[in-house]
Amino acid sequence: MKILMVCLGNICRSPLAEGILQHKANEAELNVTVDSAGTIALHEGELPDSRSITTAHEHGIDITNQRSRPLKKEDFDTFDRIYVMDASNYTDVLGLAKDEDQRAKVKMILNESYPGENRRVPDPYYGGDEGFENVYQLLDKACSVIVDNLKG
Ligand code: 4NP
Repeated sequence: MKILMVCLGNICRSPLAEGILQHKANEAELNVTVDSAGTIALHEGELPDSRSITTAHEHGIDITNQRSRPLKKEDFDTFDRIYVMDASNYTDVLGLAKDEDQRAKVKMILNESYPGENRRVPDPYYGGDEGFENVYQLLDKACSVIVDNLKG
């Protein structure tokens, strides 16, 4: 199973989502590969935002191996599922999908923990540090549901 996490810049939210899900999947000894990407290339090659690195570290997860990269069309072939953080990501990602099979791979991540509600993971980039802990908690809950469902 290959899962891609997508946000706007691939420096705040999706790096946390990647780190949390990979950590939980490894702990559950599941054969899951997680990656992340952004809908914009502005931060390509950069480390995650230092506030995301710190928040992950506080929860025992190292995300400093990650580098920002933009989403590419081939990702729809490589990955089984593509999770987005908000409705804007959703629209942008669907715009790169070439058919219904590819569009069906794209899901709002908080629909795992809040089914059918289309809740967003708020963009913490312009806010304070507490925004990153809030993002962490939302993603932690969603990733627990994902792993529980993969365990079957
Ligand atoms: P992310 O946050 O999408 O969670 O990585 C952002 C990162 C960068 C920008 C906006 C949001 N930006 O405008 O550069």
